[in-house]
Amino acid sequence: MPNQLFYGDNLEVLRRHIKDESVDLCYIDPPFNSKRNYNQIYNNVGKEDQAQAQAFIDTWTWDDYANQGLEEIQTNYLGRFTAQSIDLISGLVKVLGKGSLLAYLVSMTLRVAEIYRVLKPTGSFYLHCDPSASHYLKIIIDAIFCAQGGNYLSEIIWKRTSSHSDSNKYGRVHDVILYYSKNSKVNWNEQYQSYDQKYIDQYYKYSDPDGRKFMSGDIGAAGLSGGGYEYEWNNIRRVWRVPESTMQRLDSENRIYYTKNGFPRMKRYLDEMQGLPIQDTWTDIEALRSWHSEKLGYPTQKPEALLERIIKASSNEGDVVLDAYCGCGTTVAVSQRLDRQWIGIDITYQSISLILKRLEDAFGQGVLENIVLNGIPKDMNSAVALANKRDDRTRKEFEKWAVLTYSNNRAVINQKKGADKGIDGIAYFRSEKDDPEKIILQVKSGKVSSRDIRDLQGTMTRENAVLGIFITLEKPTRDMIKEAKEAGIYRSQYMSNPVDKIRIVTIQEIIEDQKRLDILLALEVLKSAEKQMEVRQVTLDLDS
Ligand SMILES: C[S@@+](CC[C@H](N)C(=O)[O-])C[C@H]1O[C@@H](n2cnc3c(N)ncnc32)[C@H](O)[C@@H]1O
Repeated sequence: MPNQLFYGDNLEVLRRHIKDESVDLCYIDPPFNSKRNYNQIYNNVGKEDQAQAQAFIDTWTWDDYANQGLEEIQTNYLGRFTAQSIDLISGLVKVLGKGSLLAYLVSMTLRVAEIYRVLKPTGSFYLHCDPSASHYLKIIIDAIFCAQGGNYLSEIIWKRTSSHSDSNKYGRVHDVILYYSKNSKVNWNEQYQSYDQKYIDQYYKYSDPDGRKFMSGDIGAAGLSGGGYEYEWNNIRRVWRVPESTMQRLDSENRIYYTKNGFPRMKRYLDEMQGLPIQDTWTDIEALRSWHSEKLGYPTQKPEALLERIIKASSNEGDVVLDAYCGCGTTVAVSQRLDRQWIGIDITYQSISLILKRLEDAFGQGVLENIVLNGIPKDMNSAVALANKRDDRTRKEFEKWAVLTYSNNRAVINQKKGADKGIDGIAYFRSEKDDPEKIILQVKSGKVSSRDIRDLQGTMTRENAVLGIFITLEKPTRDMIKEAKEAGIYRSQYMSNPVDKIRIVTIQEIIEDQKRLDILLALEVLKSAEKQMEVRQVTLDLDS
């Protein structure tokens, strides 16, 4: 199976594209706005929800989607819901009322029911959340998994950081990862971590003359069921765990330690131990900070070490790993590195774009050839459909897709509103000046006229941008092309040819002629451009 990256809502993708019992491991890290006051979430108070939902899709509101989801659960749509989950959600409607928390839980119930369906009988499910919702999520997963023969296996506490200042309460330093299996027989590879110094000092007290550390283990068989071997060793007659021949071999290999009473004990060398089996409290993996090299600037990016532990414990080479909220692709990148097959789903084009770039940077361009991309406009009809999609959960997806596709995932999407109206993306290139020069990208999916070109010129002047790119779904008028030409030409010693200051590109050219902005910029896509930009080498080729 080729690896698969889906751009779209995971519920729809799971229902339409992912087969029953086809996935070995599913990890999800759904968005939940835990920064808000818990009481506000629980009691559905405050007007904050609506505004936040517009700004970013990590908050939940009771809207048409929630109503539809609730109805699907209560009417057991497609026969996917257990009696327990139907009763549970109906009960939660009474307890919580129709607000953001219930909207979140309804959304999770719909998706976890699909995840249960797509898991193989030996499959595992990990849900990453935080303590403000973990107790609700646990009963929701119980009602889906445990009600159908699955098992709740662990609540992993991941200590992300050593301190966090929270007023009037204990600092919140951990996330919760709930781990379930679809059946009693589950794929499991014990994972180990190295002993800490305290443990070594406590248990590995002895060492050979060459400094090799060991602990001593019992070699007597007293109290062992199944008996042992009775003989005399070092003038002590008793029942031993090993036959005399083995005792002789161990002694000749210097693997027997004698107490001061002459009692033999087995040497267990530190350097031969695998380490401590990983327990359910993880304190050895730090959350990503700005100085960590793997950090991509994606706000909720998880460390690769965390996913590596989960993927190694619950899958084998060649197995299929699914992340239905894949963000900037941590699960996908680690699965690729560990030779697993993978399926990633995300609802924002920025994530898809970032994942493609991340994979290309880490594994080379060849890796992209083995990925099937789904849901990304490949023809004019699907581009028009994306432009006309009215989905409040995703803002400006058409514009983001157009900017990122045309810039080969190198432009920075403009997240700001208000003052920055008229800018959908920004890219930078090297110029004669010390500071890099700016390109503004603007996308229009509706009617266009020469006024749009004049507006773009105004925005360029205001923003100090030397180049402007106007991407349009509709064909540009003759006046627009004339207006753009009149803006003049830009020359630089770093460019092979002079280029038009304003360039008009159509979506048709992007899709059918594969027209792209050829800029070799080392931009990390989601980082704030001004702060994080790093320009390595630029060639700009705007064929005019
Ligand atoms: C918390 S982030 C995941 C971060 C990820 N674990 C990583 O390390 O990069 C959640 C992601 O879920 C995506 N998302 C939210 N709702 C979704 C939906 N209905 N379908 C697919 N993706 C969704 C968001 O776009 C966001 O990228």
